[in-house]
Amino acid sequence: MTVRIAPSVLNSDLAHLMDEVERVLAGGADQIHLDVMDGHFVPNLTFGAPVVKALRRFTEIPLDCHLMVEHPETYLEPFAEAGATGLTIHAEATDHLERHLSEIRRLGMHAGVALNPATPLAAVEEIAEELDLLLVMSVNPGFGGQPFWDPAIDKVRRARTLLDARHSRARLEVDGGVARETIGQLAAAGADTFVAGVAIFSAQDAAAEVRELRRLAQAGAAGGLGRKA
Ligand code: DX5
Ligand code: ZN
Repeated sequence: MTVRIAPSVLNSDLAHLMDEVERVLAGGADQIHLDVMDGHFVPNLTFGAPVVKALRRFTEIPLDCHLMVEHPETYLEPFAEAGATGLTIHAEATDHLERHLSEIRRLGMHAGVALNPATPLAAVEEIAEELDLLLVMSVNPGFGGQPFWDPAIDKVRRARTLLDARHSRARLEVDGGVARETIGQLAAAGADTFVAGVAIFSAQDAAAEVRELRRLAQAGAAGGLGRKA
């Protein structure tokens, strides 16, 4: 399994966004996670396609856009034009998941679905083969720095079973409260892509934190959970 670390810039210093991105690139971050919120689907507002476009001028790194918005179909083309690499839409935000996933792919991006803590995995069971990414939320979306929702570990385990049973090659991503204390167990449960916001950007050395999270995830995936003997 290849571990991917996806720093979320939500709680970084947004006045110096590209500098913040460079800090985590120095630690080997695999992709940047951008939390797009519309003030309706979640009670918070952040940024949209113009920020993706601005970052894209300075970096080639994959931009993993997590759309916490109603009517996600409205935003697919603008994000594609801005240079997004992948779009993850919420199962709770639309009755037409399959249609929007196809459209995301047609626009040349990776297509992902996110599930809130209360949303069962059954929401994606019929479309598992069409996913490039399944995002299991381990907090209720809207804010960084929230406590980790423990049942996410078992949900990740069941998601891994579902994806494997369908021979899906989708990445299995987890988002919310991912930190040194939780990442090993999540990797052991079968997650392979880890979003982390506050854990990375509140660390003194963000690059070193990316490296440490990767080490713990790799150890967890290998069965050791990164504990030192
Ligand atoms: C929450 C966002 C997350 C958030 C994670 O709604 O989807 O990506 O930035 O932040 P931490 O890692 O601080 O929980
Ligand atoms: Zn997110």
